[in-house]
Amino acid sequence: MKILIVGSGGREHALAWKIAQSPKVDKIYCAPGNAGIGQIAECVPIGAMEFDALAAFAKEKEIDLTVIGMDDPLVGGIVDVFEAAGLRVFGPRKNAAILEGSKAFSKDLMKKYNIPTAAYETFDDPQAAMEYLEHSDYPIVLKADGLALGKGVLICQTKEEAMDGVREIMMDKKFGSAGNRMVVEEFLTGREVSVLSFVDGKTIRTMTSAQDHKRALDGDQGLNTGGMGTFSPSPFYTAEVEEFCRKYVFQASVDAMRAEGREFKGIIFFGLILTEKGPRVLEYNARFGDPEAQVVLPRMENDIVEVMEACVDGTLDQIELTFADNACVCVVLASGGYPVSYQKGFEIHGLEKLEGKDGYFVFHAGTKLSPEGKFLTNGGRVLGVTALGDTLKEARANAYKAAKEISWEGMFCRSDIGKAIDEA
Ligand code: AMP
Ligand code: GLY
Repeated sequence: MKILIVGSGGREHALAWKIAQSPKVDKIYCAPGNAGIGQIAECVPIGAMEFDALAAFAKEKEIDLTVIGMDDPLVGGIVDVFEAAGLRVFGPRKNAAILEGSKAFSKDLMKKYNIPTAAYETFDDPQAAMEYLEHSDYPIVLKADGLALGKGVLICQTKEEAMDGVREIMMDKKFGSAGNRMVVEEFLTGREVSVLSFVDGKTIRTMTSAQDHKRALDGDQGLNTGGMGTFSPSPFYTAEVEEFCRKYVFQASVDAMRAEGREFKGIIFFGLILTEKGPRVLEYNARFGDPEAQVVLPRMENDIVEVMEACVDGTLDQIELTFADNACVCVVLASGGYPVSYQKGFEIHGLEKLEGKDGYFVFHAGTKLSPEGKFLTNGGRVLGVTALGDTLKEARANAYKAAKEISWEGMFCRSDIGKAIDEA
């Protein structure tokens, strides 16, 4: 088979690595890809939002399956464009990707179908939002309705912060048109767990759990980022939590989408928070997490291409997923200044020390090759240094040992990825 992957981050590198293990696959293309992905796939300089050019490329190369890694093209309807062109594609159509694309939609869906989530109100008008916030309990959470690179969520401790937040989101349009509507949500406390799943429209198969670290700095300080590191499995995702989610969240979400005439095929990512009153859904995503994919895929034992084809064909009920009984930790190495402003183009040292080492993976997120073939930094999140271990502690020690081999000017990473493991 020939596979095309759409995206350019660490998640897409992990997907390319996993897809390359499939005996069914002869050739992988990635658009636009990065320098690391270029070691296992042929990178094609077409942007992820250039749907017609991507579909024309897939036709020309007779691609058997296109895998969409990123949220923006999914929410923008890339799957519909591919299907209309008669191409096989893995991911939800536009009318289903709205599960991630609109927080107001997902909250209304959960309310209508009794899927446990935080209480909320939706506003189209900043004045009405401000009036509501006059009489709210604090802290409270404001969310821009649309996609905002994971940054459109504000946790406000006081009324003043909330009023500023409404101005930022709805009036100054800090997140663009994503802020035309806003969800105001009850503040919940508890540990967060990510559970990713394959869905074929009817059947859902959940993967192993993971935990992300969204803040830039140690101790969950600093600004929100796309994610600074992950571990899998989460020791807090107990059999009891899983049982609850099986009863009230997973299949219920798939059935709700079907009942709405928005059959979901692809990946549903459940962002859960484990509150004292039980698990609640914080958010849905319509694609693999980044960097959750980097720790989940190395533990997956199935041929991922078989599973993706079953999702497209509606035969997922015939597949059982299996994951190794081990653990995986990913530490993101980032450019100094991320997530605000940072320089690119520094030479990355030490990659050769980890090359081909069993149980270690360096997934590239923002890299490019210099004309002389050297790896240069080319983004905020640059690499996801990932390691397996028999236990979470071992995987964490391995990942940090590996991360020490790599350097460039201004590089930083969190030193406490997986600290929660010690509290389990
Ligand atoms: P979201 O994009 O909706 O997952 O929000 C991003 C992050 O904001 C989450 O991972 C949580 O850390 C935090 N968050 C979102 N909603 C809430 C909430 N209702 N209560 C507390 N924290 C929240
Ligand atoms: N790591 C969180 C996300 O991919 O949305």
